[in-house]
Amino acid sequence: MIRILAIETSCDETAMALLEAEGGLKKPNFKVLKNIVSSQIEIHRPFGGVVPNLAKREHLKNLPIIFEQIKSLDFKIDIVAVTVGPGLEPALWTGINFAKEIHKKYFPKAKLMGVNHMEGHLYSFLLQQKTVQTSNIKHRTSNIFPAVGLVVSGGHTILVLMESLIKWKKLGETRDDAVGEAFDKVARMLELPYPGGPEIQKLAIHGRPTSIDFPRPMMKTKDYDFSFSGLKTAVLYYLRSMSTVRCSMKTKADICASFQQAAVDTLVYKTARAVQEFGTKSVILAGGVAANKFLRETLKTRTLNLKANFYAPEMEFNTDNAAMIGASAYISYLKNKNRALRARSNLSL
Ligand code: KG4
Ligand code: ZN
Repeated sequence: MIRILAIETSCDETAMALLEAEGGLKKPNFKVLKNIVSSQIEIHRPFGGVVPNLAKREHLKNLPIIFEQIKSLDFKIDIVAVTVGPGLEPALWTGINFAKEIHKKYFPKAKLMGVNHMEGHLYSFLLQQKTVQTSNIKHRTSNIFPAVGLVVSGGHTILVLMESLIKWKKLGETRDDAVGEAFDKVARMLELPYPGGPEIQKLAIHGRPTSIDFPRPMMKTKDYDFSFSGLKTAVLYYLRSMSTVRCSMKTKADICASFQQAAVDTLVYKTARAVQEFGTKSVILAGGVAANKFLRETLKTRTLNLKANFYAPEMEFNTDNAAMIGASAYISYLKNKNRALRARSNLSL
């Protein structure tokens, strides 16, 4: 059994987790002992988005406070893992420097590992909530691969074909906005608070998804790329075309429902096509937008219709957290792979 302390500071969440891992590459098994996420949403909200230097300041303030809570557990650590990218460079450096500091001071014998944030998202479906035992993982792993992975976050929209936990190739990605970014930008147009994804989901429940026929850019193209900028612009033009300056809550709800439907249609269509083309056994959904219930349900139904298995993270592991960084560190450790402890804002999957 390997015990991992993981740190995540790539954007606006200061997160730290303590987890135990075992089982190797064939049946990785994780027990999350602590999963602490200190959100900076309230601090960035007045600016309508994340302000990098404010994020850095908050990470510097929060890291020692969170570490105190974990340190009190009195433990032995085998790996100290930290996100090195992609993300905001000043924010990434706070986590990296803090990891180096505590490694030197408290766990000099542990392995210090740099982790790719997107790989963390991709592996987050392997994590179980603290209270749940991980007994069904063994059964699950044998049914997973080959798989199509759809990683949807605020900065990325990527489709991958996974041969195994450690071998995959990118099938496609967004050519412009990430889908989470489109949710956030549309929410802003509708004067909804940041981050917009959850707000759009909430309002969409009260709207009619077929009320406005927004475009589905690139949905039917032969490749596996995505595009969300045109959809976002279509919402802007729709708002401009309205006679009143402020729209009613009912209209906003219709816009949210129709926008969400268009975005989800595109994601589900291309993911399903990949499942069919490559005959995969399953679909793995990951990233902050995986928290969207409509996307989860629609993709799950479509996947099951194709007789494939559907995996998505438990709710607490969708948006940024450090447990997923720990999971990814374990897989890299098994592969004997490590990343340099240097912030890389554009690191890709
Ligand atoms: O993975 P994540 O926490 O951070 C990045 O790595 O980017 O993803 C954040 C993104 C934001 O764009 C946020 O609006 C979106 O995930 N998001 C959602 C929902 N919850 C978070 N989008 C749609 N529906 C949600 N329920
Ligand atoms: Zn993320």
